[in-house]
Amino acid sequence: MAFKIALIPGDGIGKEVMAEGKKVVDVVSEKFNFEISWNEYDFGAERYLKEGKTLTEDDLKELSKNKSIYFSAIGDPRVKPGILEKGVLLAMRFYFDEYINLRPIKFFEGVREVLANKTAKDINFYAVRENTEDFYVGIGSNEAKKRSKDEFEILRTLYSVKFNLDIESDRDEIAYQIGILSKKGCERIIRYAFELAKRKNYDLVTSVDKANVLNFYAVWRKAFDEISKEYIKDGIKSEYLYVDAAAMFFVLKPERFKVLAIPNMFGDILTDLGAGICGGLGTAASGNINPNGISMFEPIHGSAPDIAGKGIANPVGQILAGAMMLDELKKSDAANMIIKAVEDVLREGKVRTPDLGGNAKTMDVGNEIVRKIKEM
Ligand code: NAD
Ligand code: IPM
Ligand code: MN
Repeated sequence: MAFKIALIPGDGIGKEVMAEGKKVVDVVSEKFNFEISWNEYDFGAERYLKEGKTLTEDDLKELSKNKSIYFSAIGDPRVKPGILEKGVLLAMRFYFDEYINLRPIKFFEGVREVLANKTAKDINFYAVRENTEDFYVGIGSNEAKKRSKDEFEILRTLYSVKFNLDIESDRDEIAYQIGILSKKGCERIIRYAFELAKRKNYDLVTSVDKANVLNFYAVWRKAFDEISKEYIKDGIKSEYLYVDAAAMFFVLKPERFKVLAIPNMFGDILTDLGAGICGGLGTAASGNINPNGISMFEPIHGSAPDIAGKGIANPVGQILAGAMMLDELKKSDAANMIIKAVEDVLREGKVRTPDLGGNAKTMDVGNEIVRKIKEM
């Protein structure tokens, strides 16, 4: 039986790195004797500019026919910021209730050190980012007038909420954004973080928030307090860090981290920082996971308009996202072979893209990883 996988190359370097990601998944599937049947979709800037649409209800239903989604990146300088990000990427995360954003932060041997003396043994942990709530729910405006009314309805698998806002101000041009956290939403992601620590034999889960300023993070803390107690018997310790201090420790002492549970927006920021201390966005992968639904796998970087079209983007993040997808599909041997091949190629350092100090092309890196796999 073939796995039906949705393939969404998206925009900019998305298309370039996806070609390599697909190649690598295809080669391990041959090696391990399972079949992938790719369904490719053209969601992204070109379609939006031509047809004026992002993801429609029909598109989402169509995507539901797949077992999993292999995504790259969207975003285009010709399109107003937010349209594709919300209309394509967040639309999928929310529709499929992919509440876990798992982002391994892993330094690969052979990559030039970014932090003095911090290498593979020091930087190897997991960011578990909440992926459906917080300031990402889309309640906000940049054009509230002196007297105005705004209505928002948020539909989630866990709940629905309506906000009817009466806005009165003595000034025009009031902008605001409202974040939502639900106790259940916090619990499910925090529990996932502890379960991950248990599975990986890690003895610490760090909670990140800004409960000293933003009221709603109190519910995150309450959930973390309760759930952390359940895992004391498993020898898993817990701690709280405010996001500002957490950012400092990413740089000064990354070895202290094992698993971090992070609300959505801070998780977005800290994981790019995490990629940065590992040499850049080029090697970072991520899974948008719904354990009982359709998950989506993507690199953590965007469409990188500054280097798009040159064939020099690093495809490793995309390729490792493919490994995460195969792991989720219970093809762990195939996933591990991809990881091993990536590790070998990075350690040898002969074929690497300019972001890692080399002069190879995107395609050369993909081909080298394929060659390694064929040799295994
Ligand atoms: P970006 O991640 O695209 O790029 C940031 C910097 O990192 C750039 O200098 C870029 O050249 C470099 N970079 C990123 N990926 C790289 C790779 N694989 N190899 C080598 N260098 C790489 O972030 P940005 O510039 O802030 O955003 C560009 C667009 O992408 C925006 O429209 C943004 O909204 C969108 N975006 C989309 C996603 C997604 O679809 N998952 C994620 C982040 C940003
Ligand atoms: C990411 C991206 C997205 C996010 C944007 C493009 C909506 O930055 O996947 O990290 O903020 O989650
Ligand atoms: Mn991001």
